[in-house]
Amino acid sequence: MTGWLGLFAASKPVISPAGPRDAAAIAAIHARSFHRGWSEQEIEQILMERTTVADRAVEGRKLVGFILSRVAADEAEILSVAVDVRRRNKGLARGLLQAHLGRLAAHGVKAVFLEADESNAPAQRLYARAGFTKAGQRAGYYGGADGRRATALVLRRDLV
Ligand SMILES: CC(C)(COP(=O)(O)OP(=O)(O)OC[C@H]1O[C@@H](n2cnc3c(N)ncnc32)[C@H](O)[C@@H]1OP(=O)(O)O)[C@@H](O)C(=O)NCCC(=O)NCCS
Repeated sequence: MTGWLGLFAASKPVISPAGPRDAAAIAAIHARSFHRGWSEQEIEQILMERTTVADRAVEGRKLVGFILSRVAADEAEILSVAVDVRRRNKGLARGLLQAHLGRLAAHGVKAVFLEADESNAPAQRLYARAGFTKAGQRAGYYGGADGRRATALVLRRDLV
């Protein structure tokens, strides 16, 4: 098929820095991705902070994924990453994480940390493939919808 419809269908996600104006779209994906979603106001607040580094993936005109970190001195913590349920398992998070680590390095970050549920296979695989290794664990860190507590693995990757 030719014409603009064909071009639109073929559009690839574009990764770029996110800002406060993306708060509503990020909150919508966050709410569908986590047991406890963050409100649009909470996300807007995070995006306005000078210590936040945020990236988004946009397909056509739709935000389909994001990643947020907080930087303190030469370390960063990834606060959240999520991809629209209909766009998962297509390498989008891998691309977002790669671009994000590059931006963190440009901010002078030397070590990146995060917590991820040990039973979250896509997340564990995403980070293992990006070179993150286990730095510790927190038993009972997450509370699920079923009331059970899950263990968080603390993961680390050095950027130097
Ligand atoms: C985790 C998440 C961001 C991954 O996004 P994605 O765009 O689907 O990930 P990718 O397509 O880049 O795949 C990353 C890796 O996970 C693997 N993966 C993807 N979906 C998977 C699944 N359902 N089960 C097992 N592995 C899976 C991919 O094969 C890939 O590994 P590979 O490079 O070895 O092939 C997405 O599943 C999500 O939004 N989940 C809900 C929010 C969440 O849990 N965030 C992480 C909190 S720490």
